Amino acid sequence: MDTDSINRNEADVSVTIGGLHLENPFILASAPPTSDGNFIRKAFQMGWGGAVIKTIKPDEMEISDVSPRFGVLKDKQGQNIGFENFELVSKKNCDYWVEEIRAIKKEYPAKVLIASIMADVSLKSWKNLAFKMERAGADALELNFSCPHGMPEKGIGSAIGQSAEIAAMITKWVKEAVNLPVIVKLTPNVTDIAAIARQVAAAGADAIAAINTVQCLMGVDLDTLSPLPAVNGYSTYGGYSGYAVKPVGLRCVAQIANAVELPVYGIGGVGTWQDAIEYIAVGASAVQICTAAMLEGFQIIQPMLAGLKSYMQEKEIKKLADICGIAAKKMTSHTNLSREYAAKAFLANPAECTFCRKCLVACNESAYGAIQARGRQIQIDESKCDGCSLCSLVCPKQVIKMKAPYYRQGQELRNIV
Ligand SMILES: Cc1cc2nc3c(=O)[nH]c(=O)nc-3n(C[C@H](O)[C@H](O)[C@H](O)COP(=O)(O)O)c2cc1C
Ligand code: SF4
Ligand code: SF4
Repeated sequence: MDTDSINRNEADVSVTIGGLHLENPFILASAPPTSDGNFIRKAFQMGWGGAVIKTIKPDEMEISDVSPRFGVLKDKQGQNIGFENFELVSKKNCDYWVEEIRAIKKEYPAKVLIASIMADVSLKSWKNLAFKMERAGADALELNFSCPHGMPEKGIGSAIGQSAEIAAMITKWVKEAVNLPVIVKLTPNVTDIAAIARQVAAAGADAIAAINTVQCLMGVDLDTLSPLPAVNGYSTYGGYSGYAVKPVGLRCVAQIANAVELPVYGIGGVGTWQDAIEYIAVGASAVQICTAAMLEGFQIIQPMLAGLKSYMQEKEIKKLADICGIAAKKMTSHTNLSREYAAKAFLANPAECTFCRKCLVACNESAYGAIQARGRQIQIDESKCDGCSLCSLVCPKQVIKMKAPYYRQGQELRNIV
């Protein structure tokens, strides 16, 4: 590759996904940040590549939100790492969205505006809604088969995404009704998301979006013993999102990418350019973001774009499509993982050790007794180390790292580095 030409020009972060061209892979997911036309305009002005409108329902379907309906999980430093919601779909009617789609597409023709829709399991309802959005000028439709609260009690939302047959039937209805790309948004609250993806792909879906939220119960108030978030003392199972769900999202996207030929929108816990690269590596062509935008604002787009461009320049990546799915192809069965390869713990930065004893406790209470202290010095007995990596993960100072590869020769391990 011609490195000079990459360095001379800014990295090309545009992507093409399921017939849509995005100037960058960062899209606001269907959620509160896209619940108003003016929010979407502001996001577009700030540089977001696209937006999926907060799910639109038929006007006849009545919904009623409760309060409070959000909760957070904090880490020990007080940072929000997980988010729960049991919010319903858009409270705005179809006419509002038809007008806004028309206007926003006129004002921002280069941005991608996707209409997320949800209806009861009726051909007429899905067709009408899909047709209205197409006439308004939406670039694509996203079928919400994935909301895990409120809607499934009425047989829709994730109740549809949990039935491959119903999901495929509705996908086919919508595909036959409109000439727009149809994205199917799947729920992670299933045993086998790849099986559902295969069925909707066979029914004609143009792309898959995953994940919607993971069903959860955020916590319990220790004074009242009420489940949280509590609405007059009671709660319901909600949807978990944000940074904490990224591993579930990555797993689902990799499984879908390895199961179907369709492009995938990666969703779940993206808030940085690094998260986006991970999703692209496991098979996503673009990412959708909700919780990080809710907690930190639309401004996260600037560091994400800048970071993504520098990464591409540094790694000499011409197009994001060139790295799409590389990590997904390296997923294999546990049985197939090499037993010849091994890693061992070693003291990479002994001078940084504060003698907090975390590694000592971990190895002697949950691993193989390979770590001892001589005075205030940590020592690792390589012959006892089983390579589990626990000590390196609990060490707060990155003193311990894993050295690899060791290769097995009979019973002996030989380090070849
Ligand atoms: C408050 C809230 C409301 C949401 N509403 C919708 C919705 O109307 N339609 C939909 O498809 N997804 C909805 N979602 C799910 C998000 O679009 C997204 O799939 C999920 O939050 C995971 O991404 P994240 O970790 O970036 O938040 C909502 C999420 C939250 C937190
Ligand atoms: S890798 Fe596991 S077995 Fe080896 S020293 Fe660390 S905790 Fe002990
Ligand atoms: S966990 Fe790290 S800092 Fe703490 S004693 Fe072990 S090596 Fe030292």
